[in-house]
Amino acid sequence: TWTTGNVIEEQVAAIREQVGSKRAICGLSGGVDSAVAAALVQKAIGSQLTCVYVDHGLMRKGETEQVEKDFVAATGVRLKVVDAQERFLSALAGVTEPEEKRKIIGREFIRVFEQAQAEIVAEAPDDQPVEFLVQGTLYPDVVESGGGTGTANIKSHHNVGGLPEDLEFELVEPLRQLFKDEVRMVGSELGLPDEIVQRQPFPGPGLGIRIVGEVTRERLDLLREADAIAREELTAAGLDREIWQCPVVLLADVRSVGVQGDGRTYGHPIVLRPVSSEDAMTADWTRMPYEVLARISTRITNEVRDVNRVVLDVTSKPPGTIEWE
Ligand code: XMP
Repeated sequence: TWTTGNVIEEQVAAIREQVGSKRAICGLSGGVDSAVAAALVQKAIGSQLTCVYVDHGLMRKGETEQVEKDFVAATGVRLKVVDAQERFLSALAGVTEPEEKRKIIGREFIRVFEQAQAEIVAEAPDDQPVEFLVQGTLYPDVVESGGGTGTANIKSHHNVGGLPEDLEFELVEPLRQLFKDEVRMVGSELGLPDEIVQRQPFPGPGLGIRIVGEVTRERLDLLREADAIAREELTAAGLDREIWQCPVVLLADVRSVGVQGDGRTYGHPIVLRPVSSEDAMTADWTRMPYEVLARISTRITNEVRDVNRVVLDVTSKPPGTIEWE
């Protein structure tokens, strides 16, 4: 019979067998899959594993700290955090086209990861080579990449866990036989906190594809604030399970007139995009309670500088995609 305990035991044995006394690295994205894969490998081979987390500055509020503190506290993993914010911001300067943003973010991510990996190899405390790369590939990923389903071509999805084919590593993929809900159960059993295990999907390119217009530090800070308010209120209202995810989007190139206190404002709109879905291939906009929408709107317009309007996206997928870019 299938139990999380069996899966963990089996995979731990398989990983030990595969890796032996050599070393492995794992890119953490902040997402569920890479976190659970890393925790499983950590359980199997301990300090022979090093995790790398690239902080590209496109993360939401608290996410980097969550990886740095909560994940390390729960697993005891050896973690290398690379602060690459400047690098990503410079590479993205002046860019507004969504596919171009995605390609730049993917490319910079790989460069930073490769550099970190070279450092790990150079700093290795023993003579054991780093031969393995841990990936959080799930069963649906395996099926999809073999079957080639439609949506893959619509946007160049880049999984921040995902890496180029010419890396000279053997892959360790302990989640290859599991579905998402099973991965969550395994993660909980391994002691990962709910904030990591029950996380809603978040795109690899992060907030970079939730700013319609050029990505700048100021805009990222502003969007981070708005997003944190929306998430806080959705959680407080108990809607985290009902809502698949709720992108919060900044229309940075749009301004509208408003009035606040006794003065005119000329600020940006924020879009709320709450969706319900089974697998993200199709989705519907979530009919969420008006009181919650009202609370989010009031707080965002009061608390976030330069935002004077909140709008609701009521488009299903198709024809809309979940993310705006
Ligand atoms: P779309 O916008 O295509 O999104 O309807 C479908 C799902 O995929 C997520 N998404 C991504 N995930 N890297 C990822 O890891 C990406 O580049 C990426 N783009 C979109 C999106 O959040 C939604 O859950």
